Amino acid sequence: MSGLFITLEGPEGAGKTTNREYLATCLRKQGVEVVLSREPGGTPLAERIRELLLEPGSEAMATDTELLLMFAARAQHLAQVIQPALTRGAVVICDRFTDATYAYQGGGRGLPVSRIAVLEDFVQGALRPDLTLIFDLPVQVGLARAAARGRLDRFEQEGRDFFEAVRRTYLERAGMAPERYRLIDAAQPLESVQRQLDGLLPDILDRCRG
Ligand code: TMP
Repeated sequence: MSGLFITLEGPEGAGKTTNREYLATCLRKQGVEVVLSREPGGTPLAERIRELLLEPGSEAMATDTELLLMFAARAQHLAQVIQPALTRGAVVICDRFTDATYAYQGGGRGLPVSRIAVLEDFVQGALRPDLTLIFDLPVQVGLARAAARGRLDRFEQEGRDFFEAVRRTYLERAGMAPERYRLIDAAQPLESVQRQLDGLLPDILDRCRG
């Protein structure tokens, strides 16, 4: 048996966390085992790496350090949580994964795609998400929502150009592999976003059972 690996992507303030819960509830009602997780993080050690990554510190973090810490956390998360869950046939719904590395470290920070691809192969082998939902919304809307939540983390303190590049990268990646990506209009009210997710459920359930 092999499970299904679903990732949720998008900028800050796109509502991924709320909608992750909604999707999990819908699938569990159908008797599906769902494991919810997030990146960076998902295990105690990976959550400690997350703190290093998100905490605004006095020492500037080199972009390669940032990239390697993302993949260090990912290696731990894969070994401890994602791989075992997929092996027992569960659906894993993960709030961010390697598409975020392409968007933030590639698009936002300007690191070469080839460097990210090397680490992706090294850490993940052949594993890629089966389905990636991109919660898309205009940068200004996302930043305003993030600011309303309070203190900004190290990424949220970036400027508009950074987040425009993040968004552009997500949309480019979605355009290159339409069979894997689904775009969600996250600027809509919550009920409308959830109706969009409802529309994806039959396909997700088919994939679980296929
Ligand atoms: P969030 O999960 O609360 O949105 O915060 C995680 C932050 O980390 C977010 O700003 C995106 C960033 N991030 C990367 O830059 N690269 C990555 O590979 C991942 C998983 C997240």
